[in-house]
Amino acid sequence: MPTRETPTREATARGLADARVRTERLTAFDTAELTRQHSPLMSPLVWDLAHIGQQEDLWLLRAGDASAQGVLPGAVEKLYDAFEHPRAERVTLPLLTPDEARGFLGDVRGRVLDALNAAPEDELFPFAMVEQHEQMHVETMLATHQLRDGEALLGAGAPLPAGRAVPHDSVLVPAGEFVLGVDAADEPFSLDNERPAHVVHLPAFRIGRVPVTNAAYRRFVEAGGYDETRWWSDAGWTHRTETGLERPQFWSADNASRRRFGIVEELPADEPVQHVCFFEAQAYARWAGARLPTEQEWEKACVWDPALRRRRRWPWGESDWTPALANLGGAALRPATIGAYPAGASAYGVEQLMGDVWEWTSSSFDPWPDFAPMLYRQYSAPFFGKPDEFRVLRGGSWAVGGNAVRPSFRNWDLPIRRQIFTGFRLAYDVPADAGV
Ligand code: AVJ
Ligand code: FE
Repeated sequence: MPTRETPTREATARGLADARVRTERLTAFDTAELTRQHSPLMSPLVWDLAHIGQQEDLWLLRAGDASAQGVLPGAVEKLYDAFEHPRAERVTLPLLTPDEARGFLGDVRGRVLDALNAAPEDELFPFAMVEQHEQMHVETMLATHQLRDGEALLGAGAPLPAGRAVPHDSVLVPAGEFVLGVDAADEPFSLDNERPAHVVHLPAFRIGRVPVTNAAYRRFVEAGGYDETRWWSDAGWTHRTETGLERPQFWSADNASRRRFGIVEELPADEPVQHVCFFEAQAYARWAGARLPTEQEWEKACVWDPALRRRRRWPWGESDWTPALANLGGAALRPATIGAYPAGASAYGVEQLMGDVWEWTSSSFDPWPDFAPMLYRQYSAPFFGKPDEFRVLRGGSWAVGGNAVRPSFRNWDLPIRRQIFTGFRLAYDVPADAGV
């Protein structure tokens, strides 16, 4: 397996700065906008803002020792503990004002850059972990922006490469072993739940060449898919019935347009469907005579090179991400049209695996064998082993920072969540006697 050089202090400082530019853009609004609760599912933006600084202070200035004095008084710091305060109640807390939060973030960042300058280059993992944490909250803040009512604040987004005609079919991944997960030697900034690399055998399967599109999903909606119990799991049907689901979130009632960051626009037919929950993805797959991939299948289709019998770093190979390879980084504010990234295809010919939409898998969130928690011990472990609560999402969305996602990256959320930037692709069993 290729071993990567550890990123430098300069690259790490750039990553931290890039994340901060994104945070500042999403919070460059007046106090009313930042302190409002746009949805009970989300924190007020000013909570995310100060929480970003609180975590940076905790992991980088105090090595995770919460009993040590941080930049904020202890009682104030407690307001930003995500385990202490559920999102719905954060609006009721005596939070820092936006200006206080900005001052706090600037103070912490100044000290962090001093610490980074003094850190040995083989001990930069905590800095990269904090950068990725900020990027995650940037995506959370984008979901808050998507949920808010009122006039558009973020614009329509930057242009993307054009799509191209590509078969909406599936590709065969023959039976065999591959390496699942990564080691620190391959991906120094991988998080705990992505490690360690280990050999896994998978039976043959087929996986969608491209994600399921708005046009395809609209056919399911208009064929009455939301009214037929047989396509839904028991838990999915209960959820669909109790909450009155009829179509993806943010679609208009005629399934012909959508609202995106305050702009109503025609539903783009050949764009990956977005804002569906796990239960909707599962029901569509059953209707289409398919199923969702497991996360192991997803990762094999993404990075395994069957000719060289080793992982690639990215689906397209070893080279760093550029905007010509995948829709990441958040500038577009939307997924790209199908076929936009021929150069981003995996060895098996699967496209648009990285970026565009987080892809639901059928997998619950469990540790790989020999899991070892990182410095932030509660990042993954409290969420493992809860198959009724969490499902794994792969590949990142258009909203994810280019440094904050990898083929091995594992996201997870409740199967009812759809305000996040989620879609899916199909998978199929291949009969054992098919000879592959
Ligand atoms: C990895 C996206 C599930 O936002 O709940 C942020 C990331 N953990 N702060 C989440 C996270 C702590 C986490 N997800
Ligand atoms: Fe957090």
